[in-house]
Amino acid sequence: MTKLGIIGAMELEVESLISAMGDKTCRTVAGSGFYEGTLEGLPVVVVRCGVGKVNAALCAQILIDRFSITHLVNTGVAGSLNAKLDIGDLVISTDAMYHDFTVEQLGYAPGQVPGMDVLAFPADEALSNLAFAAAEAVNPGHTHRGRVATGDQFVAEKGKKEAIIAATGAVCTEMEGGAIAQTAYRNGIPFAILRAISDKADDSAEMDYPTFEAIAARHCAQVTSLLAKRLC
Ligand code: ADE
Repeated sequence: MTKLGIIGAMELEVESLISAMGDKTCRTVAGSGFYEGTLEGLPVVVVRCGVGKVNAALCAQILIDRFSITHLVNTGVAGSLNAKLDIGDLVISTDAMYHDFTVEQLGYAPGQVPGMDVLAFPADEALSNLAFAAAEAVNPGHTHRGRVATGDQFVAEKGKKEAIIAATGAVCTEMEGGAIAQTAYRNGIPFAILRAISDKADDSAEMDYPTFEAIAARHCAQVTSLLAKRLC
């Protein structure tokens, strides 16, 4: 039976999902509340992990170890790295990698984690297809697929944005997806990342992010609910 783990970094990204859940209980582990119940009839566990890679990875592992989830989705906002992706648009990951993981001095490619057999952690195709269809239903004509670049940085500068694009070929950047992807990959759990664009990760990002964060987060929550419905 499918049991979906849903991770968002911030309150805004999970609050409407948690309020929409039925039969819910909450258990606190490592300082985060894990809400277990149903969403659109599907067994789910929703957690706000906090910002950044460590918070994201530890909550993903807790979902796997203590809540026995079978599938994992990361939902939230992201900065656009591609001119085709406008504010409010949706991105479903093909894969995810780090833009701030650097062991190049020892001969590794930018982003490569030593010991891992992939540079970018691949998303599950079936789950991604379902997420894409749900995103298209919520925001027709504004859903894209592509690589997600993750790092412990809010990207708000044109030069930095261009360097990330050159190193990763990603279409959007955020601060948790890659760590969730790596955790899922190491545990053999199918995952997908679903992000809504809140800013363009350039010099306008500091202004745009606070303005569009709530709209983008709402889009994500709508898509996640529809995905849960279709996974039943
Ligand atoms: N999440 C939303 N926008 C972002 C940005 N510009 N950089 C990193 N994470 C983000």
